[in-house]
Amino acid sequence: MTQLEARLRALPAFPAELPVLEAAGLPEDPNRLFAEWLDAAIASGARQPHAMDFVTVREDGMPIGRTLIVKDIDEDGYHFSTHRTSKKGAELANNSRASMVFFWRESGRQVRISGVVVPLSEEASQRDWEARPSYTGAPNPDWQRYALRPVEFEFMQAREDRQHTRIEYLHDGTAWSHGPVQTPAG
Ligand SMILES: Cc1cc2nc3c(=O)[nH]c(=O)nc-3n(C[C@H](O)[C@H](O)[C@H](O)COP(=O)(O)O)c2cc1C
Repeated sequence: MTQLEARLRALPAFPAELPVLEAAGLPEDPNRLFAEWLDAAIASGARQPHAMDFVTVREDGMPIGRTLIVKDIDEDGYHFSTHRTSKKGAELANNSRASMVFFWRESGRQVRISGVVVPLSEEASQRDWEARPSYTGAPNPDWQRYALRPVEFEFMQAREDRQHTRIEYLHDGTAWSHGPVQTPAG
């Protein structure tokens, strides 16, 4: 074992006290469960509970991730904003499928949301631009607010024994269904 590997293995993992995710009695709508988990993360005082890894797919098939902030959640989906001419902007213009991964380490919770990204209106984009702390009064025609419309969710609740609980929600175009994920988890 290298020295680095030994140091990494010795790092503390999940906290001893973890919430329990019961597979029975879950809401039919995954957005409700997400809202509960986001509320809990905000209430915990954790820094940037609204940050997530956002993954797009480049034209050559390479997945590309980076951290973004979720700005709102409504019937359009999970909002975020960025420059239209950024790498992610170009990737989204070419392939609108994307994934968001939220990780709240204090509670051992992770949520993966995948779906299709749509650009929101120019008005919504400029309102978002004007609300930024760096706004100096000049409009930014490159700024774009987007929403990811989910078609899949996977909720993971870590457990001390590493038998993590994972629940998948799938949308078939009409309604959500959910159930436990059977593939192995770490
Ligand atoms: C905590 C955190 C939050 C961020 N939030 C945003 C954001 O909301 N919008 C954005 O465009 N970039 C944000 N960034 C920067 C992006 O991660 C990324 O570096 C930048 O947008 C360029 O990405 P791209 O070259 O893949 O398009 C954030 C970075 C961090 C670390």
